[in-house]
Amino acid sequence: MERVLIIGASSGIGEALAREFSLRGYVVGMASRRIELLNRIKQELPNTSYVKHLDLLRPDEARLALRELISEMGGADIIVINSGVGHENAELVWELERPSIDVNVLGFTAMAVEASNYFIKKGRGHLVGISSVAGLRPFRLAPAYGASKAFIIFYLKGLRHKFKKQGVDVVVTDIRPGFVDTPLTEGNTKMFWVSTSQKAAEQIFNAIKARKEVAYITKRWRLIAFIIGLVPDFIYNRL
Ligand SMILES: NC(=O)c1ccc[n+]([C@@H]2O[C@H](COP(=O)([O-])OP(=O)(O)OC[C@H]3O[C@@H](n4cnc5c(N)ncnc54)[C@H](OP(=O)(O)O)[C@@H]3O)[C@@H](O)[C@H]2O)c1
Repeated sequence: MERVLIIGASSGIGEALAREFSLRGYVVGMASRRIELLNRIKQELPNTSYVKHLDLLRPDEARLALRELISEMGGADIIVINSGVGHENAELVWELERPSIDVNVLGFTAMAVEASNYFIKKGRGHLVGISSVAGLRPFRLAPAYGASKAFIIFYLKGLRHKFKKQGVDVVVTDIRPGFVDTPLTEGNTKMFWVSTSQKAAEQIFNAIKARKEVAYITKRWRLIAFIIGLVPDFIYNRL
């Protein structure tokens, strides 16, 4: 049985992905802070699963927790770093900017380093990061969130380059969602092409199975990514 470990599986996309993998017969490991939610999801999953308390605001402890969970699961074939936070921050309040950096940059990197070194030692593996279409172009209302997602996109590219040059069989998949209806986007009234977390999870599962390097969720967000890449800065800055 293949084993997938999902960091940030207590709600939204991560929870839906845990359910999708379990339904498809995988052993699933789930980690994040809200252990009571993880335990509830565990009880509902049709296949073997494991849970672990893990807080990315404490990156060194989180690295240890990740190692422990891998060991309790008897190893992991796929590790998904899904945890993320973000806020619209029109007033540029430091307390709202900071969590995006702490969780999406520092916490993400702690997990990516730990997972990568585990896979390198093992000789193979599949690392999946959840970035965002928001990482493709700066956004005035959420500068730290966009920048943190750009960091994830770049970091995953760096790892992929490293593994290819090293000749290690570690696949790197960058998942770039558009809008998904989850607690993170609750109250956002300006969304379009909004996907359910269930649909997002199905498409993410398929992208992982296909060992894709990059996948837009849902697929049509590739079009938006293409268009925003074409708009010159002098026009974009007026939008
Ligand atoms: N929803 C969208 O439209 C959208 C679009 C693009 C990208 N994304 C990305 O998709 C990912 C999942 O987001 P979502 O929309 O599903 O939101 P969500 O339901 O709020 O899920 C966020 C997950 O991150 C975990 N997390 C937050 N802080 C953490 C911490 N300090 N330590 C460990 N885990 C932490 C949460 O677990 P605990 O609270 O239990 O720790 C939760 O499982 C995020 O990376 C987000 O940026 C979402």
